[in-house]
Amino acid sequence: MPRARIIGTGSALPERILTNHDLERTLDTNDEWITTRTGIKQRRIAAEGQFTSTFAVEASRRALAMAGVDAAELDLIVLGTVTPDFPFPATACIVQHEIGAVRAAAFDLSAACSGFVYGLSIADKYIRMGMARKALVIGAEVLSRVVDWTDRNTCILFGDGAGAAIVAANTDDDNGILSTHIFSNGSFWNTLYQPGCGSRNPAGNDRTIEDRLFFIKMDGNDVFKHAVRGMDEAASAALAANGMSAADISLFIPHQANRRIIDATSKRLGLSEDKVFVNLHNYGNTSAASIPIALDEANRANRIKKGDLVLLDAFGGGFTYGSALMRW
Ligand code: UT7
Repeated sequence: MPRARIIGTGSALPERILTNHDLERTLDTNDEWITTRTGIKQRRIAAEGQFTSTFAVEASRRALAMAGVDAAELDLIVLGTVTPDFPFPATACIVQHEIGAVRAAAFDLSAACSGFVYGLSIADKYIRMGMARKALVIGAEVLSRVVDWTDRNTCILFGDGAGAAIVAANTDDDNGILSTHIFSNGSFWNTLYQPGCGSRNPAGNDRTIEDRLFFIKMDGNDVFKHAVRGMDEAASAALAANGMSAADISLFIPHQANRRIIDATSKRLGLSEDKVFVNLHNYGNTSAASIPIALDEANRANRIKKGDLVLLDAFGGGFTYGSALMRW
């Protein structure tokens, strides 16, 4: 059975930067609070006329170029998002059309911040089973359109952007994705969610509008606690399944939600700071896009070399969580 290997990465971000100091002008908050509680200094915000597909397409084109793969070679496109262009059709279908991936099956995947790791898990299985040879996995979000910019508990956290990876069957050596582990705990479905605009509270409902149910609602403290536990569980499952320890890891790329979550998880796993990739000070929490953006930055900065052991670790609404361990 061939291993599935990431052969190209790409990312795309809006140009507009919104700093903590900018937020001080419209909210009862300050740079010091946001920096010490989250580690975030700024985030990127989509301009009018830019959508989730805008960034997904750009990130995908960059990943294809790095991989030297023509879009027509793709068998599968999986796009993790909670902010699709439309409820339907899938944003993945828009990406398929824009990049010319004429042969690919395309669908969106709703696993919140774990969307990219979930997508990678699917691509890995299709490739290992021989049902696909080349897949495009994307995490893309425009969260700025679903956050309440008057709610300081949530709006300071999130940002927009996309990351993508080309995953292909590796016939050269044994490198590639060693394992993926995905988990859910649906008993917390309403701890982090967007209550409106689905079938329970339709977009045009009086209640949806009066109670502003179209915005993200979150119990931050509860998410925080479970995030540390869930990310520890997912990462530990990956190491145990492969008979490895934290000392074997070359680079740990966790979901970029909060610096304190990343530090607590790394500490639990026994990973030193130099092995942990962090870029959330620049982009905030971009949900499904956070891991593939970080992976692309690390890759382009030569932080990952052939043979390195890379561990991805995600946690998000649902709750969903998961890990992917790969030999680069
Ligand atoms: O991808 C998964 C998505 N979500 C997450 O990962 C979020 C996980 N949770 C978190 O990151 C943290 O819980 C937060 C950053 C959201 C909050 O940090 P915290 O240390 O848990 O603060 P808190 O909610 O306990 O709030 C402490 C205080 C409160 O004031 P009082 O009640 O003590 O007077 C808040 O009202 O800080 C206040 N506060 C703020 N102050 C200034 C909350 N947000 C802000 C703010 N600026 N933006």
